[in-house]
Amino acid sequence: ARMMMTLHLGQTLTFTGDPFREGPSATTHSSRGAVLVEGGRVIETGEADALRAAHPQADVRDHGDGLILPGFVDAHMHYPQTAMIASWGKRLIDWLNSYTFPEEGKFADRAYADEIAARTLDLAIANGTTALTSFCTIHPGSVDAFFAAAEARGMAGFAGKTCMDRNAPDYLSDTAQSAHDDSKTLIERWHGKGRATYVITPRFSPTSSPEQLGALGALWVANPTCLMQTHLSEQVDEIDWVKGLYPQARDYLDTYEAHGLLGERGLYGHAIHLEPREADRLREVGAGLVHCPTSNTFIGSGLFDMAARVAEGQRIGLASDTGGGSSFSMLRVMGAAYEIGQLKRNPIHPAQLLWLATEGSARVLHAQGEIGRLAPGSAADMIVLDLASTPAIAQRSALASDIWEALFPTIMMGDDRAIAKTYVAGRQMKG
Ligand code: GUN
Ligand code: ZN
Repeated sequence: ARMMMTLHLGQTLTFTGDPFREGPSATTHSSRGAVLVEGGRVIETGEADALRAAHPQADVRDHGDGLILPGFVDAHMHYPQTAMIASWGKRLIDWLNSYTFPEEGKFADRAYADEIAARTLDLAIANGTTALTSFCTIHPGSVDAFFAAAEARGMAGFAGKTCMDRNAPDYLSDTAQSAHDDSKTLIERWHGKGRATYVITPRFSPTSSPEQLGALGALWVANPTCLMQTHLSEQVDEIDWVKGLYPQARDYLDTYEAHGLLGERGLYGHAIHLEPREADRLREVGAGLVHCPTSNTFIGSGLFDMAARVAEGQRIGLASDTGGGSSFSMLRVMGAAYEIGQLKRNPIHPAQLLWLATEGSARVLHAQGEIGRLAPGSAADMIVLDLASTPAIAQRSALASDIWEALFPTIMMGDDRAIAKTYVAGRQMKG
């Protein structure tokens, strides 16, 4: 029996190349486009009239002027921090000790982990994010909770047990051996199961001994299709602390590199204050830099130099970093990336912002073609964006002379109200 085909009609916008290399012309916009979906996958994209004629049996969903886009891909966040988002007044180290660690301690309780995982994924769907990359807590049950909640919604999830064996409270500390063994068990349970990808997760060098970093480096060698995520050079005080803890290291990145934790499938959150050697090595290995602009302004970390990193040819993704980041909306994250670009005298084009939140993040996750794109064969993880979701946005987009001017007010001023519909693997989850 044939599966049901669904033909979505609306405005469409797809990338034909990398807008950082080729400019905004590396896109195709159709004011009356179509996306044909069957069995949770995109079968074909094109013009509405042509696809209607070619597939008269398809069930038609007409989204009018709504802009059909791939769902956003958040390349770095902390689901256990959902409940303590927007905590006032501290910078990184004090923020972790005062707000973050006490909240993460609650995840020893599996029922609480389930509740927050469900809450986080529902907030993501409401905000048009269809794939998340998350740190969990040191508790293996926090990883089970995240992947189970993602599986229940059919979502692509990238996550791992956060490992810490020093400079953390006792109730949030593991050991080099238990971090390795628990992570290994979780890899066997979840990696490659459905849409789950396991991410080996040392929190950052200050909370791992050299022995723990080495044990996780060995685990990565044994499981090379896993990703690895951590934090790198977020705040100046943190970098000074790392230099004191690892006196032999050439720089912060070297603490990871020396322990087998630098690689193409590595995701390095923040990466703001990079030394030239660090930037060179990250580019040489093709590692993923994950820009977290709402977090960087909220925690006061610094200004990511997008122009310099693009010129070097780095692989870059975009992320909310909630609850260090102050919004669940990747629209707000794109807006913050634009504002930081402005402070660096580099106005980032809306095509580039959109690319970072979809294809760019998918590429750092080595999931390009599967997520972050609407093309034949990719997952039908899609959103319909309302480009006139509030009076202020509507009056500005009404004056637009092209799709970028129509979209930019939503990037700067939009929130969950702009997400008219969210589909995960073809299934409608919002709207
Ligand atoms: N560095 C180490 N842990 C964290 C965290 O939870 N959030 C942020 N923003 N930075 C970190
Ligand atoms: Zn983080």
